[in-house]
Amino acid sequence: MEITATQVNHFRTHGFFFIPNPFGEARMREMERLAAENEEQWATTDWPNGFNRLACQFFMIGEPILRMVEQPQLIEAAKRLLECDRVHVGACGLGDASKIICPDSRQRQVHWHADGGPEVQQVSFRTALDRHDPTNAPLRILPGSHRRSREEVWEELIQLEIATGQHDVLPEKAYVKHPAEVEVVLDPRWMLVWTPSCWHATGVKTAAGPRRAMGWNYFPAGGRKRDLRAMRYIFAEEWESWGAERKRLWGLLD
Ligand SMILES: [Fe+2]
Repeated sequence: MEITATQVNHFRTHGFFFIPNPFGEARMREMERLAAENEEQWATTDWPNGFNRLACQFFMIGEPILRMVEQPQLIEAAKRLLECDRVHVGACGLGDASKIICPDSRQRQVHWHADGGPEVQQVSFRTALDRHDPTNAPLRILPGSHRRSREEVWEELIQLEIATGQHDVLPEKAYVKHPAEVEVVLDPRWMLVWTPSCWHATGVKTAAGPRRAMGWNYFPAGGRKRDLRAMRYIFAEEWESWGAERKRLWGLLD
């Protein structure tokens, strides 16, 4: 898997592109099996405060998932996209985000937001364990919004939200359909390569059943290290004996 110059340009301009899932069906099935095996233990564990629960579920898969993220072609692609010679993984997650973000509400949908602005360099690789079709809360991306100021994009979304006529007062969150948004029907056969600095939301989950995704974000030196504590906690018995290269990739060394 080598990414092309036009894919790099598409990422810079629009904030995303797709590659065929580089892991293939057998390895995706293995991820699914391991995730299912761990699910109960994960759900009943009282994780320390501040841990991202989806990152914990990701790390519980163990060695097979670390090896996926450590694929040299993916790291090379990340370095090229971020124009740097070293990257680390600063955030990751596996599981059903719709359950975590809106556990009780009937509105099973994530509002418009960006995880970082134009100044945050990051690239996320994401695939689905279940197909995220239009009834299964698909990710919605506003192409090119990672290059615009947060204030400007927010104003645009809130104006569209008010224009729906559903609000008596200024809304605090926006879910509205943007005329330029891309609804990503993510299938396990594909992998989305994107920057979470690009504004995104999800569609409403009306379908029953799981909506699991797995993803991880590479950052250049100095970038975010959100899940470092969770990683040290879950690999407590092992991480100190890892080689320098692995430690560096997972942000355990500077
Ligand atoms: Fe997000």
